[in-house]
Amino acid sequence: MGFEELPTPCYVVDEELLEKNLKILNGVMERTGCKILLAQKAFSMYATYPLISKYLSGTAASGLYEARLGYEEMGKENHVFSPAYREDEIDEILAISDHIVFNSFSQLEKFGEKAQQAGKSIGVRINPECSTQVGHGMYDPCVAGSRFGVTLKHFRPDMLHMISGLHFHTLCEQGADALATTLDAVEEKFGQYLHELEWINLGGGHHITKEGYDIPLLEACIKRMQETYGLVVYLEPGEAIALNAGFLVTTVLDTLQNEMDIAIVDTSASCHMPDVLEVPYLPPLLGSCEVNEKPYTYRLGGPTCLTGDVIGDYSFDKPLESGDRLVFGDMAIYSMVKNNTFNGMALPAIAIKDKSGDCRIVRSFGYQDFKERLS
Ligand SMILES: Cc1ncc(COP(=O)(O)O)c(C=O)c1O
Repeated sequence: MGFEELPTPCYVVDEELLEKNLKILNGVMERTGCKILLAQKAFSMYATYPLISKYLSGTAASGLYEARLGYEEMGKENHVFSPAYREDEIDEILAISDHIVFNSFSQLEKFGEKAQQAGKSIGVRINPECSTQVGHGMYDPCVAGSRFGVTLKHFRPDMLHMISGLHFHTLCEQGADALATTLDAVEEKFGQYLHELEWINLGGGHHITKEGYDIPLLEACIKRMQETYGLVVYLEPGEAIALNAGFLVTTVLDTLQNEMDIAIVDTSASCHMPDVLEVPYLPPLLGSCEVNEKPYTYRLGGPTCLTGDVIGDYSFDKPLESGDRLVFGDMAIYSMVKNNTFNGMALPAIAIKDKSGDCRIVRSFGYQDFKERLS
């Protein structure tokens, strides 16, 4: 079907745009020999895993369910990191994962032997205590009091013999300069241990597919770890994989006025793009401009009861009318993985736009999906 015929609300992932990102990432892998994994927390649209698996080394999971998804749908290297594993899940996680990363030495003490017996590659997440993002505590794993990773003070060299690698994740939508700064801190604090290990995982938050990202500097950082310590280098970006590769198509349901023009659309910031409220940010809307740049400015809001369910203010060439279709950009990442049915909102359908421009709905949802999560 054509893009215009898709039902709304609908997430649409454009295979061509996704592949463009994958080629950039694969180029980094080919030139450096590093391995790049899909962090499924950002993007778990497994209908695209056959395409992703052509370019990347595997999947990174946050726990059992994502690990299962990677194992079942991608079937390549499967890595898992969780801040704390559950006793009743660890056996299943070990059965389907290649790398398991522990957030503390107490978790390593608890589950390390089991992981060793299962023949898994074991890592520990470190916290290099190097904040490179100012004023973003919510997204900074190095913020004071963070629960993520072992700081140097709590590192246990006596347990080094149990592990093969170190993992850190400290960035969020950042450039290679922030990675270089972080590596300085990692080397200063943990460099003495790196010679004894096999791999290092540089986590996610690398905005590699964003225009202007300094790929040569990233590659220099990777080579620095490979050449200095003889390590296999892993990266596990989420955003960079499907950045700007997806859309959320919505329909205007009504327009009204209250000191300004308002349009209610059939998608909700709160349910379908929660990062818009959490981060917060103004999502790109195709064909629109910032407030007052075009003659007709509207506040777009969702149909839920939450007063703050406001997507943002945009200006248009023409007045909006009920039935108009609007298309939000950059809606593949941290969107469908985070959606919910608050207020009984329908979940958007999920579609793929192939290279010929043809669209195919791969999943649609209805009342049962809302009901089955309740009792
Ligand atoms: C451990 C870990 N790895 C990878 C990622 C992916 O980060 P991003 O989507 O910003 O690249 C995250 C994001 O929170 C993370 O916590």
